[in-house]
Amino acid sequence: MIILIGGEKGGTGKTTIATNLAAIRALAGRDVLLVDTDPQGSANYWAQSRDDENITPRVACIQKFGKGLPKEVQDLAHRYQDIIIDAGGRDSMELRSALVVVEKAFIPIQPSQFDIWTLNQMDELVETAKSFNPDIQAKVIISRSSTNPSVHESDDTGKLLNDFDNLDLANTTIRDRIAYRKAAKDGLAVVELNPKDPKAVLEMENLYKEVFSNE
Ligand SMILES: Nc1ncnc2c1ncn2[C@@H]1O[C@H](COP(=O)(O)OP(=O)(O)OP(=O)(O)O)[C@@H](O)[C@H]1O
Ligand SMILES: [Mg+2]
Repeated sequence: MIILIGGEKGGTGKTTIATNLAAIRALAGRDVLLVDTDPQGSANYWAQSRDDENITPRVACIQKFGKGLPKEVQDLAHRYQDIIIDAGGRDSMELRSALVVVEKAFIPIQPSQFDIWTLNQMDELVETAKSFNPDIQAKVIISRSSTNPSVHESDDTGKLLNDFDNLDLANTTIRDRIAYRKAAKDGLAVVELNPKDPKAVLEMENLYKEVFSNE
């Protein structure tokens, strides 16, 4: 499956989600490629630290910028079972062109009004992409949401998504947990971290199932 983790807002957890999903996919024995389209290269650094620490399974990662992305991804789809594209937090050629070739796009947002406003543009980008890629499914993932049970911002954000024709809400919410930062630092996924944060493991595994279901 070819999927995109992207969006126009910076720092929403796109690379965190892309790298975690890639590692879980590799642990499941799949041949997965992470495509880092962000010049910051965070996903690529993450994969590099795995290699430096000889962490297995290896997660293959390439960096790819510019307009050749869709063609390259289609070629690579013959060599890998799954491709996960991580697009940086802004409207870019890479984000727009990835939407043309992916089966599913996931847009992490933090439950804040500033992030919700960026969804108007994402909704339009998905709408445009549909003329080339009519079967694309686009889902918003509420990410980095508060672990405090009295904070209901995730629910409130979910309701606002009814306004967008081309975007659905993912069932899984990713919360702000130190485990994600610890894992990233060592080139790991939360499922590989020791000691484990069971809540982080559970929510990331749920997201994984949701992303890779209906194959
Ligand atoms: N669920 C989470 N819990 C705690 N920290 C998180 C979580 N998700 C991301 N972070 C931290 O927030 C920062 C930004 O995350 P990340 O790089 O994944 O976001 P991004 O959307 O890829 O950013 P950019 O738009 O710059 O590409 C990082 O320091 C990361 O470790
Ligand atoms: Mg990123």
